[in-house]
Amino acid sequence: MSAAGERDLVWVPQAEGIAREAGAKLREFFARGVETEYKGDVDLVTVADRTSEALIKRRLAEVFPEHGVYGEEGTRERMEGEFRWYVDPLDGTTNFAHGFPQFCVSLGLEQRRPGLASDEDGTIVAGVIYDPMRDELFAAERGKGATLNGKPIAVSKIEVLAESMVATGFPSHKRHDNPNIHFYHEFTLRSHGVRRAGSAALDLAYVACGRLEAFWEFNLNPWDTAAGALLVEEAGGRISSFSGGPFELNSREVLASNGRIDGELMGLFEDMFAGRSLEPIPTPEEFARRRAERAAGAAHITSA
Ligand code: IPD
Ligand code: CA
Ligand code: CA
Repeated sequence: MSAAGERDLVWVPQAEGIAREAGAKLREFFARGVETEYKGDVDLVTVADRTSEALIKRRLAEVFPEHGVYGEEGTRERMEGEFRWYVDPLDGTTNFAHGFPQFCVSLGLEQRRPGLASDEDGTIVAGVIYDPMRDELFAAERGKGATLNGKPIAVSKIEVLAESMVATGFPSHKRHDNPNIHFYHEFTLRSHGVRRAGSAALDLAYVACGRLEAFWEFNLNPWDTAAGALLVEEAGGRISSFSGGPFELNSREVLASNGRIDGELMGLFEDMFAGRSLEPIPTPEEFARRRAERAAGAAHITSA
C-alpha cells in the first residue's frame, strides 16, 4: 500500500462496490438453492452465474463507460478499448451448486496499449476478488500493494516445499486430457498437503495473503487469473509459467508462489515433464503388503 493509503486507488473503490453487490446476490442464491444446468458434458452453470455477470456488466458500464468487459458467461463489450475487465461472476460454480461454501467474484482490469494484437496481453492494473461467505475482499492496484479488507497483505516466508501447503485445481471439462493428477500426487508426497478447494481465484488470493505457499493449474482462463495474478505480485509473490516464463492470460499454465519455493517447484515440473522424479504408484498388492507389514510392526510393539 502506498503512503497515501487507499485514497490514491483509481479503480478498486468502484470495483469493490460492484464485487460486493454481486457477492451479496450470490449469497442470496446460495441460501435459496439453485438448479444446476450443464454448459458442456460436465461444465456446470446456474442462474446465479448469469445474474451476477449481468449485474457486474451493468454496473461496470455505469461507472467505467469506456471500459471493455470480457465475462465468462459470454459478455464481450467494447473489446477495442484501452481498458478491459475480465469478469468471473462466480468462480467455484461446482462448489456453489453442491452447497459447498467456497466461491467468489473476480474482477481483473487489463490496460492495453493502442495497436496491441488481439492475442497479446496488456498489463493487469487492478484486481478485486470477493468471497461473500467470509466477507473477505482482496484488492490490488499495480504498484500500490495488495490488501484484504483494507489491510496490507504479503506472501508467506516459508522457504521449502516440504514445509508448504499448496493448492491446485482441475478444469471441469477435458479432465482426461489433463496430466495434473500426476503432479497432485507428487506434490502431496512432498509438502504438508495439496488443497483442491475449487476456486482458482481464491487459491491465488490465498497465495497472496500467505495462507498457501503456491498454486498451480493447467488450462485456466483470463477471468480466473487476471485479478489473482496481480494480487500475488503486489503481495510480493511470483506468477509465471511452470518453467518460469512470463505469465500470460491465455498461457494455459499458471504457477503462483511466494517467490521462495518457486525454484524448487519449477525443478520438479521440469523433472516430471521429462519423466524423472516420479514416485511409482504401488499396485494394490503392494499396498496390502505394506499395510500388513505395518500391522505386524504395531502388534510386535504392543506385545513387547
Ligand atoms: C473453475 C474454478 C476451479 C478450477 C477450474 C475453473 P468456474 O472456475 O476456478 O477451481 O479448477 O479450472 O474452471 O467454472 O467455477 O468459474
Ligand atoms: Ca472460474
Ligand atoms: Ca465462473
